[in-house]
Amino acid sequence: MNVLSLMKQRCSVRKYEDRPIEREKLLYVLEAARVAPSACNIQPWRFLVVQDRERIRRIAPVWVTEAKASAVIVACGDHRQAWRRRDGKDHCDIDIAIAVDHMTLAASEIGLGTCWICSFDAFAIAVALELADHVEPIVLLPIGYPAESKDANRHVRDRKLLDEIVSWR
Ligand SMILES: Cc1cc2nc3c(=O)[nH]c(=O)nc-3n(C[C@H](O)[C@H](O)[C@H](O)COP(=O)(O)O)c2cc1C
Repeated sequence: MNVLSLMKQRCSVRKYEDRPIEREKLLYVLEAARVAPSACNIQPWRFLVVQDRERIRRIAPVWVTEAKASAVIVACGDHRQAWRRRDGKDHCDIDIAIAVDHMTLAASEIGLGTCWICSFDAFAIAVALELADHVEPIVLLPIGYPAESKDANRHVRDRKLLDEIVSWR
């Protein structure tokens, strides 16, 4: 499958089959994060793989537990390591976003579903996972075998047109 087709196949999955993911598949997805580019190649990320149902319940929105995600990957940024531009801008968010996108695509390629989540209680996660002050949870990524699918042509309807988002100068 070419990369654009894979990108169109990936979708946010909010309902999963109640079965675990094989370890080698989880490792495949995590490897996709490992090879992601980052500012100055600093790789200021940590990925915490949470598989315990009770712990998932404590860190993620209620629907994730109800959706029966097999695991939640907590993608964190280490603000002590992150590259800063001369004006002080910390690039953690960008670096972690690229790594997470790699994971969503790798997961989709091997038949797994994911969903980006940024709406969560960062403090509760830091406490539950005993994160250091300089380590910020940036994205939660539930992952599992999807129990729902979306039309790969949906972007015709639910994305802006190129004309609306591109200008040629
Ligand atoms: C940065 C980011 C944050 C998101 N946060 C959430 C979230 O907190 N909860 C949720 O259900 N979906 C979340 N999403 C998923 C988006 O709603 C979804 O990607 C968008 O509606 C497009 O749908 P698709 O992923 O199926 O193509 C997030 C997506 C991104 C990229």
